[in-house]
Amino acid sequence: MSFKENKHSSFINFLLHLHPKTVNEQALKYTRTFGLGGINALLFIILAFTGLLLRFSYVPIPENAYDSITSLQNNTLFGSLLRNIHHWSAMLMVITAFLHLLRVFYSQSIFYERKKNWHYGLILFGLVLFFNFTGYLLPWDQLSYWAVTIMTNIVEYIPLIGSYLANIIRGGKIVNENTLLNFYNFHTALLPILFVFFMVLHFWLVRKAKGVTVANKNEQKMVKVYPGLILKEIIVALFLIALIILFAIFFDAPMLDKANPLISPNPSKAPWYFMGVQELLIHLHPILVTFVIPLSLMTFLFYTPYIKIDKEKIGSWFYSQKGGEIIILSIIFSTLLTSALIIIFEYWFKFNQLNIHLFISSGIIPLLFYLVPALGFLFYLKAILKADKVEIIIAIMTIIFTSYIMMSIVGVWFRGESMNLTFCN
Ligand code: HEM
Ligand code: HEM
Repeated sequence: MSFKENKHSSFINFLLHLHPKTVNEQALKYTRTFGLGGINALLFIILAFTGLLLRFSYVPIPENAYDSITSLQNNTLFGSLLRNIHHWSAMLMVITAFLHLLRVFYSQSIFYERKKNWHYGLILFGLVLFFNFTGYLLPWDQLSYWAVTIMTNIVEYIPLIGSYLANIIRGGKIVNENTLLNFYNFHTALLPILFVFFMVLHFWLVRKAKGVTVANKNEQKMVKVYPGLILKEIIVALFLIALIILFAIFFDAPMLDKANPLISPNPSKAPWYFMGVQELLIHLHPILVTFVIPLSLMTFLFYTPYIKIDKEKIGSWFYSQKGGEIIILSIIFSTLLTSALIIIFEYWFKFNQLNIHLFISSGIIPLLFYLVPALGFLFYLKAILKADKVEIIIAIMTIIFTSYIMMSIVGVWFRGESMNLTFCN
């Protein structure tokens, strides 16, 4: 055997060690997982590798951070490409991690022995957001400086501990050199360690559950993991790497002027993945947005895998045919409700101008405008369409995700000066 062949086989051997010897034939179908778990893992490897290289030129001091990046872009061979790959891979990972979450949820892959992996997945998702958020500040331009200022101001709204927490994150009362150093340490030291730890646990639990879920487990035959699965993984990986490099060649990561703490751009927006939160703050009382809603959502996400579900249904896409129809109805309902309320609150009902306690006028009343139709819709699903418990949970999750996506779209593309609604952005 030649030296080259030897190297090749040890790489395959390494990949084989990450998998069980045999897998269910159905697990090889691309539509089972869409390769999303593996894509997330690969994106992390790309980010860790490019991030490590970025560290060689990046200086985490306000006076030098911006210049260190522009100098990397202008004076270093492939410097721009390196930054672009890191930036676009990070943005893509928010999307692919979310899609992976949807895949495991809608294919009933979160119950029984997979419960814990849903929880570890949620932690990993939180880490992806935190990675992105801390990385966002590092270029120290107007965009990043003010986005982080907005976000840490939002944190201040959390009752009781808000300003304490915001001060810890910022290392003071405003975003300054302490914040940059904090974020840099989080981003390049603490978060990578945490991420690797939870990713290893996550992989281990997938193996412990004997691979990914498949529908009608007993009827399927087992096949060797090599070449079927391994070759498919290599193809997806190469395709993804090629796509990211091409994208990074043609599209530069954004970079505005150097941060100026005295001049805030109008509008000042949070990073796009948090724009839904900023949009919600326009309509709802901060205590609801920063405390009640996140806590309720986290509790709901945490307890979802504990619902009793028929074991036969594990691995089946959308649970049932009715489940599929309910998802479509929920998407339509939530899109209409969210956009209608945004327009109504913007142009007709200004509840916060009512002469009553602010928590009622800008909290309870607008919340009821959302909750009453939503509960009515769920009642319709239960009473008329005879949806069962799992189908109701699927509907609730779909309504929440669709609303968040709608609010993000409005926040990113339809909010102009002073965050007014605009249709020509
Ligand atoms: C694991 C090791 C990682 C290291 C050592 C690292 C290091 C760095 C460094 C030094 C920068 C500043 C340079 C620059 O802004 O171009 C940066 C920026 C950034 N990082 Fe990372 N990073 C890592 C992982 C990640 C991950 C996993 C994500 C997201 C999931 C991420 C998201 C970002 C973002 C969004 C930026 C700002 C990019 C920009 O617009 O310039 N990083 N990172
Ligand atoms: C962001 C980093 C993540 C990585 C690297 C990752 C990786 C993986 C991989 C490789 C698999 C097996 C193959 C596949 O399903 O595609 C998997 C399965 C799984 N993941 Fe993730 N994942 C991540 C995030 C998440 C998130 C955000 C969730 C949900 C909250 C999640 C929940 C699960 C569950 C429940 C399974 C088992 C699915 C099954 O058995 O069919 N993961 N993950």
